[in-house]
Amino acid sequence: MTILKVDNISAGYGEADILHQVNLRVEPGQIVSIIGPNGAGKSTLLKTIFGILKPSQGTVTLNDEDITRLRPDKIAQRGISYVPQVNNVFPSLTIEENLEMGAFIRTDDYSKRLEEIYELFPVLKERKKQKAGHLSGGQRQMVAMGRALMVDPRVLLLDEPSAGLAPVLVGTIFEKITEINATGVSIIIVEQNAREALKMAHHGYVLAMGRNVLDDTGKALLENEEIGRLYLGG
Ligand SMILES: Nc1ncnc2c1ncn2[C@@H]1O[C@H](COP(=O)(O)OP(=O)(O)OP(=O)(O)O)[C@@H](O)[C@H]1O
Ligand SMILES: [Mg+2]
Repeated sequence: MTILKVDNISAGYGEADILHQVNLRVEPGQIVSIIGPNGAGKSTLLKTIFGILKPSQGTVTLNDEDITRLRPDKIAQRGISYVPQVNNVFPSLTIEENLEMGAFIRTDDYSKRLEEIYELFPVLKERKKQKAGHLSGGQRQMVAMGRALMVDPRVLLLDEPSAGLAPVLVGTIFEKITEINATGVSIIIVEQNAREALKMAHHGYVLAMGRNVLDDTGKALLENEEIGRLYLGG
């Protein structure tokens, strides 16, 4: 069964829509990469899936439940977690406090989950008492992903997790994303590092000017000459 469906979504920030009848599918266990030029509407799409923006038309379905008009906290309770493109940690809180904030909707004991996240990101455990604002960009991104994982999501939305990172760290972050996926979490990732994102994707979507341009397996998109020329820098 398809885990997440976006059907005919149109959405924006005011009068005019930015997204125009966008469609997207995520099958269980998939990594789905969304690529496209600046301003294409990639972040807008993630915000709409997570309930931050209310679409003017269309539906978002999670496991056969219509979640289109639910609030973000209700969507989080149903198993979607979101790491925004910017301002995705609390700089004045410690690493551990940031992770605990991620568990805000949990009423059960999350100490085991915290340990699992420290196993995934050992550097965060070493520095758990440090303020997130003092960390490097790569470590901060790990905090943001760890925070989103505290609720044990079924679907993780990542908006440009490698933005602004040194090339060596880009590789590390992508390895971590693959590890997270291997634990059974489906992932939608928006990336400017489009080639790398398509390499690890089971499926990829190209968005431009708020519309679907093409979708195919990550491999097929990488081999598509026109996509390469227009969206992957040749
Ligand atoms: N908060 C906002 N209020 C009004 N318009 C916005 C807002 N955020 C984005 N937009 C506009 O919506 C359009 C799509 O923006 P969006 O951030 O979704 O693009 P993107 O594909 O994520 O781009 P980028 O690669 O630069 O992150 C752009 O024209 C942008 O100017
Ligand atoms: Mg964006």
